[in-house]
Amino acid sequence: MDGRDLVRSVRVVGSRKAAQGLRTVRAAWRRKRIDAAGLPPRGAERARVPGPVQDAEPGPGGGVIRFSRSELRITVAVNGAVFWGWDGAGPEPSYALAGRCPEPDPRAVLEPDTNGGWRVVAERVTVSVSRHGAVEVCTPGGVMLRRDLPPRWWEPVGGGAARWVQRSEVAADARFFGLGGRASGPRLRDGTYRLWNTDPGHAFGSGDDPLYITMPVQLVVADAAAHLVFHDSSWDGTVTLLEGEEGAGSGHDRAGRCELRMEGGPLRCWVMAGTPARVLHTWASLTGAPALPPAWALGHHHARWGFGSEQEVRRIVAGYQEHGLPLDAVHLDIDHYDDHQVFTVDHERFPKLPTLAEELRRDGIRLVSIVDPAVKAEQGNTVYDSGTAVDAFVRDPSGRTVEGVVWPGETVFPDFTDARVRAWWGGLYEERLALGFAGFWHDMNEPTSFSAFGESTLPRSARHALEGRGGDHREAHNVYALCMARAAYEGLRGLAPGERPFLFSRSGWAGMQRYGGTWSGDVATGWPGLRASLSLVLGLGLCGVPYSGPDVGGFDGSPSPELFLRWFQLGAYLPLFRTHASMRAGRREPWEFGSEVLEHARVALLERRRLLPYFMTLAQLARRTGAPYVRPVWWGAPEDRALRDCEDAFLLGDALLVAPVLDPGTDRRAVQLPRGRWYDTATEQAYEGPGQVLVDAPPARIPVLARAGAVLPVRDEDGGTGLEVWAPARGRTGGGLVVPDAGDGWGEPEIERYVARWEGRRVVVRREDENGVREPSRPVRVRGLG
Ligand code: NOJ
Repeated sequence: MDGRDLVRSVRVVGSRKAAQGLRTVRAAWRRKRIDAAGLPPRGAERARVPGPVQDAEPGPGGGVIRFSRSELRITVAVNGAVFWGWDGAGPEPSYALAGRCPEPDPRAVLEPDTNGGWRVVAERVTVSVSRHGAVEVCTPGGVMLRRDLPPRWWEPVGGGAARWVQRSEVAADARFFGLGGRASGPRLRDGTYRLWNTDPGHAFGSGDDPLYITMPVQLVVADAAAHLVFHDSSWDGTVTLLEGEEGAGSGHDRAGRCELRMEGGPLRCWVMAGTPARVLHTWASLTGAPALPPAWALGHHHARWGFGSEQEVRRIVAGYQEHGLPLDAVHLDIDHYDDHQVFTVDHERFPKLPTLAEELRRDGIRLVSIVDPAVKAEQGNTVYDSGTAVDAFVRDPSGRTVEGVVWPGETVFPDFTDARVRAWWGGLYEERLALGFAGFWHDMNEPTSFSAFGESTLPRSARHALEGRGGDHREAHNVYALCMARAAYEGLRGLAPGERPFLFSRSGWAGMQRYGGTWSGDVATGWPGLRASLSLVLGLGLCGVPYSGPDVGGFDGSPSPELFLRWFQLGAYLPLFRTHASMRAGRREPWEFGSEVLEHARVALLERRRLLPYFMTLAQLARRTGAPYVRPVWWGAPEDRALRDCEDAFLLGDALLVAPVLDPGTDRRAVQLPRGRWYDTATEQAYEGPGQVLVDAPPARIPVLARAGAVLPVRDEDGGTGLEVWAPARGRTGGGLVVPDAGDGWGEPEIERYVARWEGRRVVVRREDENGVREPSRPVRVRGLG
């Protein structure tokens, strides 16, 4: 490019930017106008509480309790979850539930309580309802887990959606987790958290809230038990949390508090209690099993906004190969589109995509395509034309198509809450499959529409089908991305029935795990961003979304070699292991940070590859049990308070404890161990938990500890799967499960169960199942004997 070309291209970019800026101003005014006409301001409101109890009517699994100004329906489901809904709200319709609502448990019976209220005694909890409508959930032993005070509604006198507030108390020792993807967690501190999926509009740090995925799902962990509470309303709202205080034995504990304020929607909730594992299992049985990613999606992905051309993609792939770095997927961002238009290709810069895809696949590398929901509003754009023909796009209350602004300029937005629209959209992935793409990356689906002021999304009054019920964006906003994921997932199942779809989505809501995973979004480059990355993965896992990971290295700017390396080392132990960055950011290829980083990054990549069979086992177990791959260290011992407050380490399945380096200049770090013996996997040195130990964390690695007795599948040099066994403590046994990969289709692999025990001076591993006890057919390596 000579000087004149440069000046010309700077001018073109400048004028494009100015035009886009102008569009966002117009769009902001348009949104304001639409809402002013379509959403009259709230007028006078009438407040209401349930009032005194009148009578009750038992029914299957519970019954209906009538109050003078409301009624409460309680049902205990066969999976042990308890549902209650005010004002006649039932569990359905719901975007969170997977298909049909579970059957009521016939053993749970509504009976009068001694204090004039009512109660339902179920296997795992007792639910008592007071005379004024407070609902208390206790363990079978009578310990209070939560107490929801009588709710309060504010109803517009002229009709319309009622706002409501639900205040609750939890045990003084309880800790809060969840609420979707929160950068400041995983333990949610005192404060107010909004429930409205939001693109922060810049690379976010730990202080940014809300982010792309919010959901009214809380996991509350207390000495007595853990419980998950889900308020099934997709409307805008806030959750205010206040941890309790214990009165140091004085008996004057102050309960933890939670206040949920919702702008509308039904006041209904689900509660499930028990161990964390049991709670997540019940949650998955209610909202659906996490989709099983194809095996390649458990490897390493490299993405970048601004690869710019096929040559550049080839250059990066060659770099991985030349440096001996495993690579499993390359992601193409919006710069491979023609003028940023979804489901198109810039044929000048990507002239032979199918050939590229095929060549990469021969090398074991898949291509993943970004998919944005917004469609350029221009006749001649085939997606716009075909969408218009099926009336796919969101309209305002006056019937005009809502236009927003995203990368391609003026855009329209498919209404994914309409089954017809989902079917149309799902069919569009055929074009992507024909180009050779193997996976899909949903972006900008909060939905985001750039706006010079006000909220960067659709007008609140925009109309949505909501499965035929009809409603507006206030109700549809938070489930927009969930419905987009459903459209893609179902479309792909039809288009490529033999393959498991690979889909991950920036935004989503309760139940999104049925269709795939997510990623951090634009996490800011910096040590706080590294910490936020772990917080997001842990928090989402506790909301039932087990597959996620950050932009390794951070989205913006240029990480120092040290920060990049530590991020890479953490990423290697997270379900989605992907380097990605903005087009304006510095490089993210491991060889761009000097020979030392390259060497250590290679070790991390090779270890990830070695652990792939373990990751596959964890993915299979997540699908079967709802347990996330990445678990807080208190997962197996929520009553251990020191563990409950530990946020800088995690369990990867049952076998490993990963203690990432989250601060600069670290070469040793403290690790809070759960009970039992743990081995530093690098040195095989044994440590005894519970308690805190200091472990080496040189630049070459982050500490990873293995639980004594663990049996985990690892990849051998020749590509087969062997068993790595960590010696149980003397006199103890150990074991583990292996669920092999049955290919990228739908085959159901057999679960292998192994038991490890001492026999004389040897540790022996055997496969045990209903067919008896056998020698394992896999090679075994016992470690930790030193
Ligand atoms: C925003 C996404 O979060 C980011 O990952 C992506 O690179 C840009 N959009 C461009 O598509």
